[in-house]
Amino acid sequence: MTKFAELSIDGKTYQLPVVVGSENEVAVDISNLRAESGIITLDTGYKNTGSTKSAITFLDGEKGILRYRGYPIEGLASKSSFLEVAYLLIYGELPKEDELVKFRQDIKNNQMCHEDTKKIMEGFPSNSHPMGILSSLATSLTAFFPESLDPNRSWDKVKLTIIRLLAKIPTMVAWSYTKQKGLPANYPDNTLKYVDNFLKMMFSQPTAPFEVDPVISDAMEKIFILHADHEQNCSTSTVRFVGSSQASLYASIAAGINALWGPLHGGANQAVIEMLTGIEEDGGDIDKYIAKAKDKDDPFRLMGFGHRVYKNFDPRARILKKNADAILDKLGIQDKMLEIAKKLEEHALEDDYFVERKLYPNVDFYSGIIMNAIGIPTNMFPVMFSIGRLPGWIAQWKEMRENKEPIGRPRQIYVGANERAYVDFKNR
Ligand code: CMC
Repeated sequence: MTKFAELSIDGKTYQLPVVVGSENEVAVDISNLRAESGIITLDTGYKNTGSTKSAITFLDGEKGILRYRGYPIEGLASKSSFLEVAYLLIYGELPKEDELVKFRQDIKNNQMCHEDTKKIMEGFPSNSHPMGILSSLATSLTAFFPESLDPNRSWDKVKLTIIRLLAKIPTMVAWSYTKQKGLPANYPDNTLKYVDNFLKMMFSQPTAPFEVDPVISDAMEKIFILHADHEQNCSTSTVRFVGSSQASLYASIAAGINALWGPLHGGANQAVIEMLTGIEEDGGDIDKYIAKAKDKDDPFRLMGFGHRVYKNFDPRARILKKNADAILDKLGIQDKMLEIAKKLEEHALEDDYFVERKLYPNVDFYSGIIMNAIGIPTNMFPVMFSIGRLPGWIAQWKEMRENKEPIGRPRQIYVGANERAYVDFKNR
């Protein structure tokens, strides 16, 4: 039986249906409130607004729980491959063996990018940020596959768009790296598994044979899995929002890449290493930077700290922290960054400012350290995040379209000037 919440204003009471999720999360459905009362709700930054009902990812920020389609992230990170997780997110169930074999093969068959992709890349200056290149190349897929612009095409055709994205985005990321380095672009190697092929496209050079280090491959696989979805975050909401206008899936993903780019979102992993390097170069004075982060007149924030929804700990950070130690150990690397990061975490977690505000390390705090240790340049971190988040974006876009969600169009409270008469130049 539907329960109702009551809202009273100016002597009138409105009944608002209560919606309960499968993990007993409770929402008040205000979608008819304006039609009935003329009133809207106001929530800048959507801090307390559910934008959709979703069956993909469950996240409890207070308890530090993250599950994809019901499966805890810890188990997936230790037992699954990234493509298995991608299939799970997009199609709702873990794939049977033959389904996974076909999924992998379909992706392998589509990893090549059109040769003209390189011409588009040639137009970028070599110091271009790889996120800018990646979002442009993702958009260019609408030109190479213009049938994707038809919002009414069959799901079979949409399936191919999904495969193309999963297949081509890593090639594009690797090409943005070789472009930056002034090296020849490497073609995909269909004999290799997904992550190994990506690492080979990134790091192999014509002058020497290339072997994928299994420690690095395993670390990358985990990082991708842990980033694969995170319910209605900024970039995912962007993908759903852009897709709600029936823009193509390629265009929606390109928008997601741009949203992810910012330092408060996917760009934070890059900002973490830049911050740790800055602290090290400044003599390693942790307390000075803790004080700066607390000072409201100083724009400095502890990057990789705090989260809109995690108010206890970020389970992804916990897994990556453990892995960072093991990976650096296996690679025989003594990393100053990791030492500074751990000290910073220790100091922050003993400080009332961080404790009271429930600010803990987030996924970006340790992912940057691992990627740094395995030789990925700092400005490539956000594009790595994009490869990881791609299945989540696709799954969320697909769910939004399957559920026939309406175009996203928030309202506002206008606080500007009231009507006034036009003033000629000479009288301004
Ligand atoms: N360092 C110092 N103070 C902080 C930090 C930080 N990293 N994060 C939040 N605060 C303070 C903030 O100043 C505010 O204090 P007060 O209540 O006195 O005004 C309080 O904590 C609440 O912060 P908020 O900015 O209102 O919280 P939010 O939910 O709007 O922002 C956040 C969340 C992640 C943008 C923010 O914590 C932040 O800027 N962190 C650093 C950037 C970062 O690591 N981003 C990656 C997020 S995880 C990956 C992803 O999913 O994208």
